[in-house]
Parts: sequence; C-alpha cells; structure tokens
Amino acid sequence: FNRSNFPAGFIFGTASSSYQYEGAAKEGGRGPSIWDTYTHKYPDRIKDRSNGDVANDQYHHYKEDVRIMKKMGLDAYRFSISWSRVLPNGKVSGGVNREGIKYYNNLINELLKKGVKPFVTLFHWDLPQALEDEYDGFLSPLIVDDFRNYAELCFKEFGDRVKHWITLNEPTSYVAGGYTTGSSPPGRCSHWQNLNCTRGDSGREPYLVMHHQLLAHAAAVLVYKQEYQPRQRGTIGISIVAGWTLPYSNTKRDQHAKRRVLDFMFGWLMDPLTNGNYPHTMRSLVGSRLPNFKEEESKLVKGSFEFVGLNYYTTNYVANAPDQRNNIGRTSYLTDYGANLSSERNGIPIGPRAASFWLYVYPRGILDILLYTKKKYNNPLIYITENGIDEFNNGTLSLKEALMDHQRIDYYYSHLWYLSKAISDGVNVKGYFAWSLLDNFEWNDGYTVRFGRIKDHSNGDVAIDQYHHYKEDVGITKEMGLDAY
Ligand code: GCO
Repeated sequence: FNRSNFPAGFIFGTASSSYQYEGAAKEGGRGPSIWDTYTHKYPDRIKDRSNGDVANDQYHHYKEDVRIMKKMGLDAYRFSISWSRVLPNGKVSGGVNREGIKYYNNLINELLKKGVKPFVTLFHWDLPQALEDEYDGFLSPLIVDDFRNYAELCFKEFGDRVKHWITLNEPTSYVAGGYTTGSSPPGRCSHWQNLNCTRGDSGREPYLVMHHQLLAHAAAVLVYKQEYQPRQRGTIGISIVAGWTLPYSNTKRDQHAKRRVLDFMFGWLMDPLTNGNYPHTMRSLVGSRLPNFKEEESKLVKGSFEFVGLNYYTTNYVANAPDQRNNIGRTSYLTDYGANLSSERNGIPIGPRAASFWLYVYPRGILDILLYTKKKYNNPLIYITENGIDEFNNGTLSLKEALMDHQRIDYYYSHLWYLSKAISDGVNVKGYFAWSLLDNFEWNDGYTVRFGRIKDHSNGDVAIDQYHHYKEDVGITKEMGLDAY
C-alpha cells in the first residue's frame, strides 16, 4: 500500500495555521488578533500558560520549513494568512501593511520554487482584535464586508500564484469555543455555565455567528468568481470539521439522535452550502433562535464552493438525551440537539486514545463521513484538509519516546487506507493534508501535546528566541529586581 494506490495527480501535503505556527506576533507591523489578547489576558486558560508569540517562528524560519517539506516529498502546504498581519486594523481602509504582504509573498515564492503548491486559508480563527473591539467581530453583520475586502486584498496580492483558496477553517469550532463554552476567544458564553467567560448568550450567539460566517464566506467566493477567477483560474472552497458518529445503541431513538447530531455538526454548513437553507431538524429544534436566510442570501450561499475541505480526526457515539433540551435558559447549540456524545460505550473506548482528550482513533470514520457526504450532498469535490494525531509533551514522554512514531504511522496508514477505499467507492477526493508538519501551539493545550510529524523545538534553532525578544527578557530581569545578567 503506497502512493500508487492513489490516482495520478492526487495531492499530499501538511496543514498549519498562522497563530499556531507563525510567531513574530509583534513584529513586521502585525496588529493583535483575538488570540493574542486572549492568551495574554487569560494565561490560565492555556494549559501551560503559553501563547503563539513565538510558536514555530515560521515567520523567520519559513525557508527551513519549506526545505523540510521538499525533503519529505510533499506536493502542497496548507497555511493561513494572519488577517491582522496584512490589515493591522482589520480593514482595508485602515491601511495595508506592506511588510505583511511581503512575508506571504516570500513564503509563497519559496514554496513554488521548491515545487510545493500553496493552499491558503483566509481565516483560521485569529480575528483582528480591532474588529472585535469595534463591533464584536462575527456577532455583527458588519463582518461580511470587512471579510470580503480582506479576501479581495489577498486575491489581488497573491492570486496570481495561489490557486487554491479556503475561506474559513472549521466555522463550527470557532462557534463552539468562542460562543458556546467560552473556552477560546472571544470567550463568550451564557452565565449559567458558570465559567469565567464574558457574558454572552449561547442559545443565540452561536447561530448568529455561524450565519455571519456563511454570509462572509459566500461574499468572498462571489468576488473571487466574478473579479479574479476569470484571470487567475484558481479554485475556492471552505474547510469543515467532519467528525463521524455512531449510534450508542441500535434503538431507533439513538439512531435518530445520531442523525440530528450530524445535522447540527455538519449539515449546519453543508445544507446551506448545498441547498441554501439550514437542515430541517435544526429549524424545528432551534426555532426562532436560528436566523433565516433572506432569499438573496440563500441564493448567494447555495453552491458557494468549488470544493469542500474536510477535517477528520475522530468519531463519537451519540445517545438520545431529550432532557438536554428541557431548560430553555440553558440552551446552547450543544444541547439543542437533545443528545449526548461520548467516546466510550460501557467503559470501552471507540478506539485508542491520543493525547488530546477528544481524540480517539477510529479510522473507518473517514470512509463513512466521505460516503455520507457523497450521498447526501451530491458528490462534491473534496480535499481532506486535516487529519492527524497527537502525543503528550507534558513530561510523560521523553523526546526520544515521542520520536518513536508507531502510533502516528498506524494512524496515517489506516486513515489513508480507508481514504483510498473511499476513492475506489467513487468519492471525489483530490488531496490529503496531514495535521501537521511540525509540533505547534495547540490552542488551549498550548505546547503540551504534539501533532507534528517533525518534532520542533528540539534544538536551539529557535530556543526562547532571545534574539528577537531581548527587550522582554530584560524587562523580566528588571521586574525581578536582579542586579546583573
Ligand atoms: C482545526 C484546528 C487545528 C488544530 C487541530 C488539532 O482546524 O481543527 O484548527 O488548528 O490544531 O485540529 O486539534
């Protein structure tokens, strides 16, 4: 089983995102994003109190990283643009940061020089803080124009060389962390959850934010198709988290619950993108808290993609749990579907656990979600834009142990095997991106887990990057009242 089991031209790459990789947070004219604010304001919410200030320092080390990709024989690299690096205030009218544009030009050119295709995500959760401050970011419909303008700037500057665009990464995860549990920025949730979150309304805000993400996505796709695609001849899509589900038992109730959960997790995006409206289950269960598409919005969203990026990691059991819905005051999109998700059944896990608490290995799920997508959503063109597994980096494993990659090799092997099966079953998949090339900043887990195929920070290449951060270090020295360094 090897590369020849995949069709000619099938693309293999790795995926990344700006906040998780780039570093140089305060350099080159970059403005702050909501992730900068969050990690600095609430260091307790990140397991090791870390942040993406330096991350993999790809900003300074992109050439080495591209060299590694080339050495590994990769065809493509998926990365995201930091919106606030090119537009520090979030808006084109606030001024374009040419230094930021130059960085992405350098990265893109380096990739192309080495024969690696850039797949570019426009938004991987690091919203410019300025837009959050001005009008609450994606809670406001004002985001639609600003996102479109930002996207257009990227098409204009980079579209002569970038032929694959991804508007948004996992809108569902952005909504879950930012507006439901409040565990990631902008950190809003309903007060009943009793978390240390900014007071929000998780019965409504997730639906509103998703609505605006869909409209922003569609607006960017429209301008690309009308103004840029005719000359640039690239293609555009969106990346969606595509967890699979199994019914907890064979009862009708659990089977229905499973379908509802798929509608809420996957159909929430796939239905509007394919049919121009939210799934029927969602409309009836969420009622007036679910925004309506105006007729012209529905038309704009329907068909607004040329490929779907699916991010597959894991599968969950779903059990019917109507009680979840009882108390309207406690509503969130995670309770509206009236079901419980779990990784185990009668104490037996669905598969071996990785380091992340939510990641249990279930390779067959990638085949099942692909077949489901083919059947239910008219056989769209698909890229697997993420798939991967992590191990601990919290002192339980030495680097040497972490480098023994048996579990990761198994994971990729078995998922790729099921992927090749999906292709022979007629699913239209054209490429596969592993998450991730390097270990990186894993959001709330900081650097305590490693998703990389290459272990990073294992030498002094970056170290604590005092070369770029000597001022902060001297500041700390002073704060500590030290007399000498
Ligand atoms: C995603 C995430 C990545 C995560 C990866 C592992 O798109 O799911 O954005 O950024 O790091 O999924 O959890």
